[in-house]
Amino acid sequence: MSYPIRPISEDEWSSFSGVLAEGFNWTPHPIQSERWKSNTEFDRTLAALDGDVIAGVTGIHSFTMTVPGGQLPVAGVTAVSVLPSHRRRGILSQLMRRQLADVRERGEAVAALYASEAVIYGRYGYGRASDGLSLRIPKHGSAFVAGAPSDPALRITVAKPAEVRATLESVYESILAERPGQYRRNEHFWTAVLADEEFDQDGAGALRCVLAEDSDRVRGYALFRVKSLWGDNGQPDGELLLRELYATDPAAHALLWQSLLNRDLVGRVKATRPVDDPITQWLTDVRYLNASWGDELWVRLVSVDAALSSRAYSAPVDVVLEVADDVCPWNAGRWRLTADTASASCKPTGEAPDVSLPVAVLGGAYLGGGSLDAQHAAGLLTEHSAGAVRALATALSWSPAPWAGLVF
Ligand SMILES: CC(C)(COP(=O)(O)OP(=O)(O)OC[C@H]1O[C@@H](n2cnc3c(N)ncnc32)[C@H](O)[C@@H]1OP(=O)(O)O)[C@@H](O)C(=O)NCCC(=O)NCCS
Repeated sequence: MSYPIRPISEDEWSSFSGVLAEGFNWTPHPIQSERWKSNTEFDRTLAALDGDVIAGVTGIHSFTMTVPGGQLPVAGVTAVSVLPSHRRRGILSQLMRRQLADVRERGEAVAALYASEAVIYGRYGYGRASDGLSLRIPKHGSAFVAGAPSDPALRITVAKPAEVRATLESVYESILAERPGQYRRNEHFWTAVLADEEFDQDGAGALRCVLAEDSDRVRGYALFRVKSLWGDNGQPDGELLLRELYATDPAAHALLWQSLLNRDLVGRVKATRPVDDPITQWLTDVRYLNASWGDELWVRLVSVDAALSSRAYSAPVDVVLEVADDVCPWNAGRWRLTADTASASCKPTGEAPDVSLPVAVLGGAYLGGGSLDAQHAAGLLTEHSAGAVRALATALSWSPAPWAGLVF
């Protein structure tokens, strides 16, 4: 069955957001709903209609996202939901196809999203592009290795988050281009980061902020909440929930981590971090990271040629890729990717392929993470020329590891 699909107008917000509330089993406070509405690009929403009923929805944030070696316009897919009464009738599939065609028409070569469930988006050509490490570090396991960076000029100051918003924004802007996956935040995203109504606190108290600064400037910040907990015999056992931590240099980064881990009355710090966060190197006893891996961003190459020629590469590569893509058929076929560390081109070709792979694998590797070698070893891609996968994997890899850091 086919459902007409179109963008919604602003006065349809309540039906549109009703589908989100229903799908996510979410009861938003009117303030949360209003925040979401104010960050909605209505001309980039889509609704699938069953008669007068909005049965499925999605939307896009128009991002500027860091990719290896630069920044690109990226479609940040969001607000995906189908009414429970209409699930598994193909509505999401219809929305996804229409959305990808719209993204292509707009000239964005890449789409990215956070998935509520990891099984959903692979079928639409999205690949797992970044991972997050969930950490639970007990205070008694927080000793740092000798040689961890420090700077006697640095000090920690306590700040009220809302009062230092401009400072936080400028720290974030200064590190934005370093890590693939990070995106420029508009004022609505900053409002969301600093949101601190009681319903934002989830029982963990007010949003708190510490700055790492020297006499000239602020070099980093951490935003967090602390759940005040006590053991049976009155031992302090608070839980510090890190919201975000950004720093312009390793010494500021280390000092911020230490100030969180050593905070009085705190028994442990919980955080989700990029897989290469320096804390993974600084703890003397790495077992106390208590780390578990999870998928973070999913990336889709909407136009393989434009996407692959718009990023930088870690090593020279010259390969013919045979791409399978039945959702965006304009990508299917053979592409010659030629890149060195200064320039890249990706053009259609009739030459014999070196590697055959689904488009989702390229999306998964696009930001410099992913694991082409492991997927090859797992038999998920086909190598026709010996060494071609290794060469491609090396060229696509990037440091630092990709990570967006803020769900959209
Ligand atoms: C996820 C969701 C949008 C799927 O919508 P839908 O209209 O039921 O999806 P479709 O009918 O188009 O499904 C297409 C395919 O994906 C599969 N699929 C969809 N959602 C799935 C899920 N959550 N788990 C496993 N498979 C799923 C379907 O079985 C179907 O498979 P098939 O092509 O092999 O038959 C809907 O279940 C939903 O709103 N969930 C709650 C909110 C949510 O998680 N949104 C996603 C936010 S990132």
